[in-house]
Amino acid sequence: MKILGISFGGKNGSNDAMCKEALKAAQEMGAEIEFIRPLELDLKPCNGCVACVKKLVQGRNPQCIIQDDFPWLDDRIASADGIVIFMPIFEKGAPASFKILQDRLAGPSHDKAFLKACKQISEKTGNEGPDVRQMRDDIPVSFVMIGGSDWVTRVATDAKLFAMTPEWKIIDEIVFPWSKAIVAEDEKVAQCRQVGVNMVKALQDPASATYLGDPGVCPNCHSRNFYLNNSITEAVCEVCGLIGELKSVEGKVSFEFPAEQIKHAHNTVSGKFHHLDDVKGNEMKIAELRKTESFSRRMAEYRDFIQPSMPTA
Ligand SMILES: Cc1cc2nc3c(=O)[nH]c(=O)nc-3n(C[C@H](O)[C@H](O)[C@H](O)COP(=O)(O)O)c2cc1C
Repeated sequence: MKILGISFGGKNGSNDAMCKEALKAAQEMGAEIEFIRPLELDLKPCNGCVACVKKLVQGRNPQCIIQDDFPWLDDRIASADGIVIFMPIFEKGAPASFKILQDRLAGPSHDKAFLKACKQISEKTGNEGPDVRQMRDDIPVSFVMIGGSDWVTRVATDAKLFAMTPEWKIIDEIVFPWSKAIVAEDEKVAQCRQVGVNMVKALQDPASATYLGDPGVCPNCHSRNFYLNNSITEAVCEVCGLIGELKSVEGKVSFEFPAEQIKHAHNTVSGKFHHLDDVKGNEMKIAELRKTESFSRRMAEYRDFIQPSMPTA
């Protein structure tokens, strides 16, 4: 049983310490452990080149073409049975280093529906197909988010969205406000330790492994963040995309949505295939547009209008 701990915090700061607390507990229960700090690695941001998508549609392994430490990290993650992620809260949400990894690891190249489609194509074309380790179901992941104040209201959404694309199964999800000195707070340290224990238990008994985080408001994905669209009266769950009504029930906010919508929820394989079909249809339209003279002319005009400023040596 291999448990990988990833800390996005400053070197030897609160997140590193609490991640190690969870790993220590897991090791004491017999797990093999590994600790990684993405800030120590050369990880470049996704530049949207879509080389991964081009490989996906040919049934080839959608490995990223950027030359950096990502292939190594991707392999470490694919080799882990369970993952515990600790991150500081920046501007109420996830730090940039987390977002960089999210774009590289939780974009199209690791989307469960895209990978399944890629596998089917590979069986026809004879190409190598995706890394099957990335197609495993319900890889357990826990998120712990540590903030220095009470500005913490967006970060759990970032965590949920990270897990949504590869369809990882969230076990613990804990947000700690006002926790800059968390190492001195015994109760919180014990909660971080429990994250390691819960991960081992989830791996020992996957059938009983269940979400242990904040129940939230969305009954489907536990989110507390909703998008309020002026053109409709409903609210959109920011994580799973369900459209429903926010109501007050017995003095508490409740989110209700038509049951048939669940098949389109973004955290389900059917919802992901729905999205894949939408994207495919749109790409086909765009491909036709790109062939037109007016499209090329417009793009060329913008390209030639002004060049980006750069620092001089
Ligand atoms: C750029 C930046 C933005 C921050 N924004 C927030 C914030 O919005 N909410 C919050 O609670 N803490 C915020 N903090 C405090 C950090 O979350 C806190 O210091 C962090 O837990 C430190 O983790 P570390 O010791 O592992 O590096 C911010 C810190 C920095 C450097």
